[in-house]
Amino acid sequence: MSFLLAGAGARGQIILDTDSGAFADDGVAVTMLLRSPRRGDLRGITVVSGNVWSRDGAGFMARNARLLGVPELPVLAGTEMPMTHTAAMRKTEKPIAFAGAFDLPVPAAEVQPPSGGVDFLIRSVEAAPGRVTILAIGPLTNVATALQLRPDIAGKIGSLVMMGGAVHVGGNASQAAEFNFWFDPEAARIVLRSGIPNKVLFALDVCNHAHFTKKLFDEIVAVKTPITELYREDFGNVYPGFLKNPNAQGSLWDELAAAYVIDPKLVKRSESLRLDVETTFGPSYGAVRTGGKAGTPVTVVLDMDFDGVLGLYRKALTAR
Ligand code: RIB
Ligand code: CA
Repeated sequence: MSFLLAGAGARGQIILDTDSGAFADDGVAVTMLLRSPRRGDLRGITVVSGNVWSRDGAGFMARNARLLGVPELPVLAGTEMPMTHTAAMRKTEKPIAFAGAFDLPVPAAEVQPPSGGVDFLIRSVEAAPGRVTILAIGPLTNVATALQLRPDIAGKIGSLVMMGGAVHVGGNASQAAEFNFWFDPEAARIVLRSGIPNKVLFALDVCNHAHFTKKLFDEIVAVKTPITELYREDFGNVYPGFLKNPNAQGSLWDELAAAYVIDPKLVKRSESLRLDVETTFGPSYGAVRTGGKAGTPVTVVLDMDFDGVLGLYRKALTAR
C-alpha cells in the first residue's frame, strides 16, 4: 500500500542541491525532474563538492540544463570545501575505493568563501516561505552553511528531501558511512539537528534494494540523444561500467529521491526517527546515530515501488 508522507502532497518550488559528476545518478535525477510534470517547479540548481569539486560540478550541471532545454535555469556553485573533512584526512583513513573530489586536484585556494549557491538557497526560501522543497542529493555542506548563516530559515523550508546516510545498514564509503554523509559529516549533523519541519531521507537502507542492469542501459543508449551519449560514457565506462562488465549491477541512489519528489505515492514504507551523525574522526566518521535528542524527526524511507521508479527513469532517459 502506498501513502503520502506529511508535507509531500503540496506542489511548490524545487531547488536541486547536487554534487554532480560528469553525469552519474545526479544527472539522471535532474533528467527525471526536467522531463516530468514538475519541470516548471525546478527554480535553480546549487552545486556542492562531493563526486567532484563544486565548480566543476556546476559546469556539468549547466551542460545538463542546456541539453535538457532550460539554458536559463540558474546553476550556481556553492561551497567548495567540506566543513572539516579534507583530502589529507582521507589519506589517513582505511583505504576507501571511491573518495570523490578528494582524489582530484585541489582547487587553487584551499578555503573558499560560500559563493552564489548558498545565497541563492537562502534567498529562494525567504522569497517563498514554506513552499520550497530542497532536493539535496550530495553532501550537505551548502544546506548546513545556509543554516549557519541564517538559522531563521530552517522553519521556512517547506521540505528537505535528502539522499544520504546508512541508518540500519553498513556504509559504502567506509564500513560505517555512506558517501554523502562521510564526505561532510559535520554538515550532515547540522542539518539533522536543525528544525526544518519536513525531512525525508533516502539512505542506503532503501537504496540497497534498488538495482538496475545492462538491460535498462541498453534500452537507453539505443536512443541517440546528447543526454544518452553522456549517460553511455558515464554508466558504460565509469559506474557501474556496463561496457566493461555486462553483468555489473548498479544501485539507484539520487534517482529514488528525485522519483519521490515527482510522485510521493511511490513510497511504500517509512519510519520516523531522530537522527544524528558521528563527527569524531575515526572509523565511524559520518555514521548515522539513532536516538538523537536535537532537531525535528526524519522520515526514513524503507521501501518503494522500484518498478515505478525505474519506469520514470526509463521514460525520462529515452525521451527525445
Ligand atoms: O552514496 C551515494 C551518493 O554518493 C549519491 O548521491 C552519489 O551521487 C554519490 O555522490
Ligand atoms: Ca549525488
